[in-house]
Amino acid sequence: MEYVNLRENIRISRMTFGCWELGGGQWEKQSDDVNLQVIEQALTLGINSFDTAEGYGNGHSESILGEALAKHPRETLVIATKVSPNHLYGVEVRRAIEQSLTRLRTDYVDVYYIHWPNRDIPLTETMAELRRLKEEGLVRSIGLSNFSLAQMHEAMAEAPVEVIQPEYSLLSRSIESDIVPYCIAHGIAILTYSSIAKGILTGTYHQGQTALPASDFRSKRRLFLPEHIQAETPLVNAIQTIAERRRVSMAQVAIAWLLAQPGMSSAIIGTQSAAHLQDNVKALDWQLSAEELSSLDDVSRDVLTHIDAQV
Ligand SMILES: NC(=O)c1ccc[n+]([C@@H]2O[C@H](COP(=O)([O-])OP(=O)(O)OC[C@H]3O[C@@H](n4cnc5c(N)ncnc54)[C@H](OP(=O)(O)O)[C@@H]3O)[C@@H](O)[C@H]2O)c1
Repeated sequence: MEYVNLRENIRISRMTFGCWELGGGQWEKQSDDVNLQVIEQALTLGINSFDTAEGYGNGHSESILGEALAKHPRETLVIATKVSPNHLYGVEVRRAIEQSLTRLRTDYVDVYYIHWPNRDIPLTETMAELRRLKEEGLVRSIGLSNFSLAQMHEAMAEAPVEVIQPEYSLLSRSIESDIVPYCIAHGIAILTYSSIAKGILTGTYHQGQTALPASDFRSKRRLFLPEHIQAETPLVNAIQTIAERRRVSMAQVAIAWLLAQPGMSSAIIGTQSAAHLQDNVKALDWQLSAEELSSLDDVSRDVLTHIDAQV
């Protein structure tokens, strides 16, 4: 496993274990016992960074993570959680972190993100409360998720932001033009979500393989619409060509591409499968060549142009 500085005194693995899936809720959940074992395996593989949210499974994700991590020394772990956009008044933020800490069985989190902006609640009030929580030691770093650059500037006028969590992958690259250069220039860590596009970049949903049942919430998501699945085919094929030549999985190719992009600290990946987890971490063992990176870059841009034109 490779590690980078999230900020001074906090080192994180370049793969972060995403815990949305194991909370249940929208996701079809494996048993808690299975997920406890998968988290244990993540630690064995060198992953020390975990991402959850109060909103995942209405707190269940945090509870399972807390149970899994309780027997490991706290100082070896980097735990991030998020306050929901309907809890952003100061008093609500404080109540939310207190409840999250109880479920996580810890007395501080390494990163506390605002999960999504909420225009109805003054950002200055939320950021002022986050600054107080940081001063009190309940939160080590303040993070933002799903914020535009303009919204980041507004937040940073009130308190320093050290981490952001945007969506990013070969199928979602809008942050490249403004947010990534800004974060590089200001030393802000970027942890990406939907790094394998909720499974699309693993090839599972192309080439006549698995069709998502209509009951799966992803079937309504933009990248899973039938016309977009079709438009994504050249990219999935390009990933498969490289994967076959390299004798690695398609997931590894997609993750290796992401981690080779400028400014990327850690790829957050969700899985409830020990086999998938073992496979995914192997993306850290090898690197794509300059030609492979550039060919994926070209196909991805073409596909995204096509998809954006369809909306
Ligand atoms: N801040 C935000 O707003 C936000 C939004 C979304 C997600 N997140 C965070 O990011 C994490 C991950 O993002 P995501 O949930 O959108 O999706 P993702 O990590 O892009 O994809 C997860 C999906 O990929 C599958 N998968 C994983 N490894 C695989 C492999 N090697 N081969 C085939 N399939 C594989 C998983 O199924 P299996 O379980 O079968 O492996 C799961 O269905 C979440 O857990 C959460 O922590 C944050």
